[in-house]
Amino acid sequence: MQKDVVALKKITDPRGNLVVLEEGRDIPFAVKRCYYIYGVREDAPRGFHAHKTLQQLLICVAGGCDILLDDGAAKTTLRLDDPAAAVYVGPLVWHEMRNFTADCVLLALASAVYDESDYIRDYEDFLQRVKA
Ligand code: TYD
Repeated sequence: MQKDVVALKKITDPRGNLVVLEEGRDIPFAVKRCYYIYGVREDAPRGFHAHKTLQQLLICVAGGCDILLDDGAAKTTLRLDDPAAAVYVGPLVWHEMRNFTADCVLLALASAVYDESDYIRDYEDFLQRVKA
């Protein structure tokens, strides 16, 4: 399981910063969908699921949140609060997001269009699938 926040390519000049993500270079899959989460209440955790096949790259383009990653064997919590940093979430990784700052905009780049049948929303079901 990828457990670290990955630094993205940042181009800085006196005007400010530009971050670039290119498919096949910085994104290890073809991007079929992007979505973003914002205006999340600080006491409202999100996620609480894993995916059967979906790959995602998560970036807080503003603000920050904690991301718990659980591969069924080990749990890691990462703080994502830098627009030039990303977390990769592969298949069969249970993830939970908490402690969103009021200004947080969490961008997700995903390898497939939305498909509810790819979700594993029950933690016991997740553990069974990891074992199988
Ligand atoms: P949900 O999976 O509960 O969000 P989170 O993982 O942040 O807790 O999704 C919230 C709602 O949005 C749910 O009804 C499914 C819907 N949704 C889409 O229609 N398309 C999408 O790409 C996503 C991610 C969610």
